[in-house]
Parts: sequence; structure tokens; C-alpha cells
Amino acid sequence: MISTSLVLCACAAVAMTMSIQSVEEMQYTKDPPAFCHKLDCPRYEVVQTFKDYELRSYLSSMWVATNVTQMQFTEDDKKKQFNKLLDYISGQNDRSEKIAMTAPVLQTILHGQGPDCESTFTLHFMVPFNLQNSPPQPKASDVYITSLEPMDVYVRVFSGYANGTSTQTNLQTLADDINDSTKYIPNPYYDAVYDNPFQILDRHNEVWLQAKK
Ligand SMILES: *[C@@H]1O[C@H](CO)[C@@H](O)[C@H](O)[C@H]1NC(C)=O
Ligand SMILES: *[C@@H]1O[C@H](CO)[C@@H](O)[C@H](O)[C@H]1NC(C)=O
Ligand SMILES: *[C@@H]1O[C@H](CO)[C@@H](O)[C@H](O)[C@H]1NC(C)=O
Repeated sequence: MISTSLVLCACAAVAMTMSIQSVEEMQYTKDPPAFCHKLDCPRYEVVQTFKDYELRSYLSSMWVATNVTQMQFTEDDKKKQFNKLLDYISGQNDRSEKIAMTAPVLQTILHGQGPDCESTFTLHFMVPFNLQNSPPQPKASDVYITSLEPMDVYVRVFSGYANGTSTQTNLQTLADDINDSTKYIPNPYYDAVYDNPFQILDRHNEVWLQAKK
């Protein structure tokens, strides 16, 4: 009798753990947001909503990336990086595989500490879900596969076109709104662009600051 009830108990415990895990998974795997335009985009959970920003939690994910370290970074530089990543998904990889476009186009900007004021600008495309576990290797030597670790980020959404100026302004507004520099890591910061340049209205861009644990 005792052993039977123990077994039942153990089963109930297992069932409970499983249902809790699946609820957590569900929060990350529900339908992608409309601004992803039905492209694969990294799943997240909204941890907290504030007046003009939100705190999101992202799972880890694989991306293809390329970077440059320099003092100035122009729209032309960004276009060159974009084209390198486009080449990768168009078949310039070790399986000559065509890979679906994903969202967003994520840029990381890491300001250097040195006197020369150089920063590292990294552009990323997310690897589609079906290739996350085995992405083809890029042929270009300056394009590489990298993982973004699980992280919480403060996110501010803005419309129009993301460029150096609008990104800086929105990043400053986000930092002002958070109003507590102990809550985030200021360097690097991120901007995420979800629309192609031909979409003029209703553009959705984001700036991210990584939350401190
Ligand atoms: C920049 O790219 C190179 C490969 O081209 C890589 O080895 C390096 O780690 C990258 N740097 C950063 C800061 O991500
Ligand atoms: C940057 O974007 C903003 C807002 O979309 C726009 O007003 C501004 O003219 C742009 N600046 C440049 C240099 O393209
Ligand atoms: C920002 O935080 C300070 C305390 O650190 C507080 O005095 C101030 O009112 C806050 N500003 C806003 C706009 O909430």
C-alpha cells in the first residue's frame, strides 16, 4: 500500500514538473509577433512592461555574423556587412544551401576603451529554427556562426528608419526612461531592424540594453 502511494506521488510530481516546463516553453513559442512578418525571429518572453519600454527574456540562439572595428561607421559600411550575410544565406556556405531570411537584422555596437575611439560593429542574421542545431559554415573568412547567450534586455520600439542618429537618440531615451544605470550594461548595445528598406510606413525598429542579472 505504502509503496503504491509513493509511486503515485512520484508520478504526480513528474507530471507537475512536465506541465510547468511546457508552460514556460509555451511563453517562448507562441505565435511570433506581427512585426516579424512571419519570418523566424528569436522567441522571447515579456518579463515586465513599462510605460515606454519593456523587459524581455530571450533564450539562446545561433546567428551568422560579421564585424568591423573602426572609428566611423556609415550606412555604406552597414550595407557591405548586410551583403556579406546575404551572400551566406544565398548559398555562399559549405553546403551551398539557400537559407531563409529571418528577422531582425541585429547590430551590436561595442565601444572600445582605447584612446583611438574605435568601436566594433557586428551585424547578425538569426539562423532559421530548422538549422539552429546545424548551421552551414560560411565560405567567407570574415563571416562566422556565433551564439547569443540567453539574456534579458530592455527594449524600446521606434519607427522611421534606424540610422546612427535615430538609434543614438532612442538609446538615450531608453536609458533616461530606465533612470537607473545600475540596471543595465551600457556597452555593447543593440539595435534591431525588422523591415526591409522598401517598407516606408509602419516601420518597427528597436534598441536594446542588456539587463544586469
Ligand atoms: C570579429 O570577427 C572575427 C572573425 O572575422 C572574430 O574572430 C572576432 O571574434 C569578432 N570580434 C568580435 C568582437 O565579435
Ligand atoms: C536618420 O533617421 C531619422 C529618422 O528616421 C531621419 O529623420 C534622419 O534624416 C536620418 N538621418 C540620416 C543621416 O539619414
Ligand atoms: C530618477 O531617479 C531619481 C533617483 O535616483 C529620482 O530622484 C528621479 O525622480 C527619477 N526621475 C524620474 C523621471 O523618474
